[in-house]
Amino acid sequence: MPPRKIIIDTDPGQDDAVAILLALASPEDMDVLGITAVAGNVRLELTQKNARIVCELAGKTDVPVFAGCDRPMGRQLVTAEHVHGKTGLDGPSLPDPTMRLQDQHAVDFIIETLRREDAGTVTLCVLGPLTNIATAFEKAPDVIERVQQIVLMGGAYFEVGNITPTAEFNVYVDPEAAEITFKSGVDIVVMPLDVTHKALVTRPRNDAFRDLGTPSGIAVAQMTDFFERFDKEKYGSSGAPLHDPCVTAYLIAPELFSGRHINVEIETQSDLTRGMTVADWWGVTDRPANATFIGDLDADGFFALLVERIGRL
Ligand code: RIB
Ligand code: CA
Repeated sequence: MPPRKIIIDTDPGQDDAVAILLALASPEDMDVLGITAVAGNVRLELTQKNARIVCELAGKTDVPVFAGCDRPMGRQLVTAEHVHGKTGLDGPSLPDPTMRLQDQHAVDFIIETLRREDAGTVTLCVLGPLTNIATAFEKAPDVIERVQQIVLMGGAYFEVGNITPTAEFNVYVDPEAAEITFKSGVDIVVMPLDVTHKALVTRPRNDAFRDLGTPSGIAVAQMTDFFERFDKEKYGSSGAPLHDPCVTAYLIAPELFSGRHINVEIETQSDLTRGMTVADWWGVTDRPANATFIGDLDADGFFALLVERIGRL
């Protein structure tokens, strides 16, 4: 089986960084055509810088990095420095990147790549707000049917919300972009908080990253040491939830995950429940299924994969 061609759309973010490292460490599974940065956890000038920092940490400076949208489609940007720190990658002390940022806008790269590659052969791995993806779909509707699959981290049902009582951050930041994406007809796999809150970096798991003794392994441990504060204080959880690595791990080992093909709609009208993913998990409506909504994972298998692969870098 040849490696899947993917574009990683991201707002690094410590968990984004781990997802990117996993992808870059897995060339037999993924051919990373490019990394497109979007505003989310922190401002775009930081997310595009952080994406390049992670590529250099992995020693993969040949992967092109593009800057995309610096704000949601129709709303003010909301960021999450309270979770990720002012740089977005607080924890390790990593050098500023020397690899250059591509001149082309990320949205145009996504469109151009989908038009160039054979239809149905490019997967979009989305780790942040869906602004770049939805903007590409609006600008060039012809590319929608050319997408092989979208695997995204976002939303919640049983876990409800992490930035508001009813919304997960990525969908909350740009609910209109999420609505466009979920109504696009593309084959979508969703990694909601329901599963990512079961992917907790407990102390022994984080020690396994640190014990790799490699720059990437140590950096992941230091990122997690920082990133876990928010969830430990808020939820009393036993470690940081590795949200975004669920996306790239799914492309390597889908058997680690389980879920249901259901209808998911996005709340865009209400201020109270903006960005809520209304997931028909129990099939109580006749709304057509439009997404595979993941609810569970083999956490030990997930972390074993992460440590093995990141240990390669
Ligand atoms: O709600 C978690 C998501 O929001 C993750 O992708 C995290 O990186 C932030 O973007
Ligand atoms: Ca993210």
